[in-house]
Amino acid sequence: MGKGADIPRFKLNTGQYIPAIGLGTWQSKPGLVGEAVKTAIKVGYRHIDCAKAYGNEKEIGDALQDLFREGIVTRGDLWITSKLWNSDQHPDDVPKALAGSVERLQCGYLDLYLMHWPVALKKGAQGTAPEDFAPLDTKATWQAMEKCVESGGKTKAIGISNFSVEKTEKLLSYAKVVPAVNQVECHPVWQQKKLQPYLRSKGIHLSAYSPIGSGGSSFTEHIKVLDHPLLETLAKKYNKTPAEIALRWNVQLGHSVLPKSTNANRLEQNIDIFDFEISEEDMEKFNSIEQVRILRGDDMWVHDTNSPYKTVEELWDGDI
Ligand code: A2P
Repeated sequence: MGKGADIPRFKLNTGQYIPAIGLGTWQSKPGLVGEAVKTAIKVGYRHIDCAKAYGNEKEIGDALQDLFREGIVTRGDLWITSKLWNSDQHPDDVPKALAGSVERLQCGYLDLYLMHWPVALKKGAQGTAPEDFAPLDTKATWQAMEKCVESGGKTKAIGISNFSVEKTEKLLSYAKVVPAVNQVECHPVWQQKKLQPYLRSKGIHLSAYSPIGSGGSSFTEHIKVLDHPLLETLAKKYNKTPAEIALRWNVQLGHSVLPKSTNANRLEQNIDIFDFEISEEDMEKFNSIEQVRILRGDDMWVHDTNSPYKTVEELWDGDI
């Protein structure tokens, strides 16, 4: 690869084009993530997926500054996403949180700003204990997000993350700005069979996090997406790795993928998915894979007190 201009893009309902692959930075350790960003951009990535909650925006911003200074890319070449953390959902805090991410990332503006979860925490809350929860008012938060994009503010588009069909539908009942993106877990073992057609029908782009299936809870940590026999069979057939098959499957469905890696070889491998096509017949075979949601969120967001979600089914509206 090497040239980011070569990467296919998907058109959003805003008219902007999001690169089909971005670098995921969740769980990328401080001290490693800056190098990962530099390597990624040098091998052709043009899209970096960030969040305040990942605790590494400043290091990513420093790496971007180095790349700009060295003339490797300009800000305009890149697509940078970040996310509003749950403790910043009060409408007064939304523009401040956006400005904070832009400042740490040192990138002038974001291309996309997402509401990270349909969960509200108290301002300044550090954890996810019951006493950290605040009343959820997604409408007020979304209206503050809309102001950030309407006023020619610090983000060019807004969206959501971890919203079920029902939660997206409710948001659309009052939204003046339709979310450009819903970023959710999506890979062959959790294909979002309910959300996928719904988002397509509403013109909302699906961005796939954990596209090679990491990030499980203790409940699901034994599930290894890359070891699935279909991925291994197709990897042999197409002379690719199971990770490349998993990523290509998502891209062929029109989803952007956000694989995380801090390893130079795997960063190169994961972007090498645009020189082959999985046949229609082989795409069909993914339909028979047993489905398991890996990132269930129950260890963080399900509590008997204060949380709006008393069960994991309520968090995902039964889609689990
Ligand atoms: P590493 O950073 O050492 O490469 P996901 O993006 O689905 O969350 O998956 C990220 C995890 O998968 C990380 O542990 C990452 O480790 C690993 N990983 C990334 N790319 C590959 C690959 N091509 N093959 C196998 N494992 C990978």
